[in-house]
Amino acid sequence: MKSKLVTTLMAFGTVMALGSAALAQGVNLRIMCGTVGTQFELCKKVTGDWAQKTGNRVEVIQAVPSSNDRLASYQQQLAAGSSDIDIYQIENIWPSLLGDFFVDMKDHVPATALRDFFPTMIENHTVNNRLIALPWYGDAGLLYFRTDLLEKYGFKAPPKTWAELEAQAKVIQEGERRSNPNFWGYVWQGNAYEGLTCNALEWIVSFGGGTIIDTRGNITVNNPQAAAALRMAAGWVGTISPRGVTSYREEDSRGVWQAGNAAFMRNWPYAYALGNSADSPIRGKFDVTVLPRGTGPNAKSASTFGGHSLAVNRFSKNVKAAADLAVYMASYEVQAFRATMGFNPTRPAVYKDAAVLRAAPFVGKMDDVMNSATVRPTTITGTKYPRVSEAFWNASHSVLTGRSTAGAALAQLQSTLNRIKGNGW
Ligand code: GLC
Repeated sequence: MKSKLVTTLMAFGTVMALGSAALAQGVNLRIMCGTVGTQFELCKKVTGDWAQKTGNRVEVIQAVPSSNDRLASYQQQLAAGSSDIDIYQIENIWPSLLGDFFVDMKDHVPATALRDFFPTMIENHTVNNRLIALPWYGDAGLLYFRTDLLEKYGFKAPPKTWAELEAQAKVIQEGERRSNPNFWGYVWQGNAYEGLTCNALEWIVSFGGGTIIDTRGNITVNNPQAAAALRMAAGWVGTISPRGVTSYREEDSRGVWQAGNAAFMRNWPYAYALGNSADSPIRGKFDVTVLPRGTGPNAKSASTFGGHSLAVNRFSKNVKAAADLAVYMASYEVQAFRATMGFNPTRPAVYKDAAVLRAAPFVGKMDDVMNSATVRPTTITGTKYPRVSEAFWNASHSVLTGRSTAGAALAQLQSTLNRIKGNGW
């Protein structure tokens, strides 16, 4: 892993810190970074480069892996006015929840430089006319499939529908089990957390069952297509997916997949570079495509949009240095490097960068997937989104674990969401 990282870095040359000349040296900064896959290691690498270049020090603190637990811990620290962490890696669905605690990045980045980011992403991070974070990378759910096993079992192409995925997974699982009792058809994220909201939203949208709440704020989730989607996923548990999938998060699924013990996996792009790392048993034996579509008149392939950003704590004792580090981390050069590791750039130009595409042709495919990805109903629900998402993943989880039928769970969800909505979002 390390050697690949270093090689890639060398390919891009030394990355220069922006605007660092004007900075005082000897500042100690703390940044809280994600820990899923290579996130933490890459954060240490990139912040270390900046520290060396500017003569400052950066300590990288590990955030808890689960998205919603992270949000809760950030809220706790920031509401207490803590200055411990200077920069937070936040999710792009949190601006309206945390925005007040962060500095306006427009004070640190010229408007002309902001034009190099996707305008929608800048807009998404603008709260009350303040740019509360710099978009760092985008995410979209993908279907990973084993090219060698598809060929071995005579499948010409990866599945286009969930029914095809079920059929292929079953055949491959049965065949592989003869020599590998630990083999499974399909792994994904079924734990009761934000990741399940992302997975279940994909199933439901793929069946034409809507986005839980529509853009006008109507609660739409209690419908037959959504029920069919949840029923389908519940049918995977213990058949093509391990029973334990209902407690899997991203890294649990990747563990099974990367060990060579699954035919298909749903995950974010970060798993691509890891799957192809030098010591990976599945190196060169897999590819990615869009997730399968469901059935029904409005069926389509659906992928949940995610992503992460860099925000500077307004209680920080070193706002200027912290902002400089955030600007560096979101710079073209750093994003070009990270793109090859599975972190989709927030700058459109990087998708066309010849060196990036040579090192990771995969990046060229991501532009389209990201553009057509489904957003969670965060804008309309604002600060109530965490409660909405929790109600949704709990309802989905109760169906997956057989504690509830899809129909009953969605009816109950509808009344919970009505209560959360109250007189309006
Ligand atoms: C990834 C996505 C994020 C999502 C999370 C769920 O980190 O980028 O948007 O909320 O996974 O586990």
